[in-house]
Amino acid sequence: MTKHAISRRVMLASSFAAPALLRASFTKKPFFYSEIEAKIARRDFRGITKEDLPTPCLIVDKPLFEQNLKRMAGHCKSTGIDLRAHCKIHKSVDIAKRQVALGSVGICCATIAECELMSGAGIKNVLYTVQPAGKNKIWRAVTLAAKDPTFMVVADDPLTVDWVDEAAAALKIRVTMLVDLFSGLTRAGHPTGTPGLELAKKIDSKKHLKFGGVMGYSGYASHTKGFEERRQRSIMDVGPVVETANLCKKAGLNVPLITGGSTGTYNIDKEIGLTELQAGSYVFMDTGYMYIGSKNGDKRYDDFQTSLTVLTTVVSKNHPHQVTIDAGNKAMLRPTDQVKDRPDIIVENQGAEYGILKWKDGEELKLGQKVELYCSNLDMSTNVYDRYFVFEGERLVDVWPIMGRAGALQR
Ligand SMILES: Cc1ncc(COP(=O)(O)O)c(C=O)c1O
Repeated sequence: MTKHAISRRVMLASSFAAPALLRASFTKKPFFYSEIEAKIARRDFRGITKEDLPTPCLIVDKPLFEQNLKRMAGHCKSTGIDLRAHCKIHKSVDIAKRQVALGSVGICCATIAECELMSGAGIKNVLYTVQPAGKNKIWRAVTLAAKDPTFMVVADDPLTVDWVDEAAAALKIRVTMLVDLFSGLTRAGHPTGTPGLELAKKIDSKKHLKFGGVMGYSGYASHTKGFEERRQRSIMDVGPVVETANLCKKAGLNVPLITGGSTGTYNIDKEIGLTELQAGSYVFMDTGYMYIGSKNGDKRYDDFQTSLTVLTTVVSKNHPHQVTIDAGNKAMLRPTDQVKDRPDIIVENQGAEYGILKWKDGEELKLGQKVELYCSNLDMSTNVYDRYFVFEGERLVDVWPIMGRAGALQR
């Protein structure tokens, strides 16, 4: 093929794929990333549009996000259950502070680094929901407790009780410790009933520990489809946690907290007897929660709205009813199946840096067009970005750093 033939072919293809509107936009240079960074540092978001942003990136729909926060805060106030929001979903100090401002009694964290981040940012009553194991984590936990006496840990093993007590003794402090009880998820949790009571007594007997209550998180209950099925699963999984707390009380122990629960069971947990709710996903919601069913019988679970998307760009358009976007597994970590405003689109064949979108007869997507995807798993998707771009409609109004992402925490 001659040079002339190639350029003619390219010209024809681009004139087919790139509509006049898109070409006209090249008269104005977008903000480059260094300019966006400089503007962020000055908190000057004027003029930055979704077209300027380097894709893939995370977009927060601020009105929907705020609606979610207020709805959960309102629910907890009106039903008399405390919220201790879990930060593993967003890993952002800005968001955690907003949750606390709306009444969250503290923040739950899944890693010791998240605990250090949140407590270091001045957030009180941080609960580490995974028991500290190994020298590094135990020492970091007790060092944090020495700086911030409101920080709390859990344990599901008598060895952890001994080790944390020993490390706390070395620092001459007392660490608040809860028993993490088995509640359906095999990843962690001491057996409920008498064994749970025995572990609580062991904590209570230690000079450098203070018994803080019990925890039981049922990840199976949270995602069970159908409200009544979910309620029954919660009763089965979390009921024994509450019974163990009652055994502790009968044995004369003070049980300040019975903590657990999730976004999926937020309107069930109080009835079962939890005193506080560790919900996390409600701030953004993901496709994993979209169809677990509402209390009113609707198949769609829309108590909270999907307020987070991954913004992508169409980078290839060579087939009818199909495009390639610049977001694949590196952008989401778990394939999604939902495109914002286009439920007819199927996300197929996700590779490392690209995804294929296909549809039957909806409007054709164009080369260079922006497409927003809902996340299938919040924790993993938010972990691969440095910041949230926060929008009100098409206007960028804020940028929140994701300081708790795992890679950033290997300090
Ligand atoms: C211990 C613990 N509590 C609470 C949550 C929050 O659950 P959700 O995001 O479904 O509200 C999680 C999520 O994995 C968790 O691991």
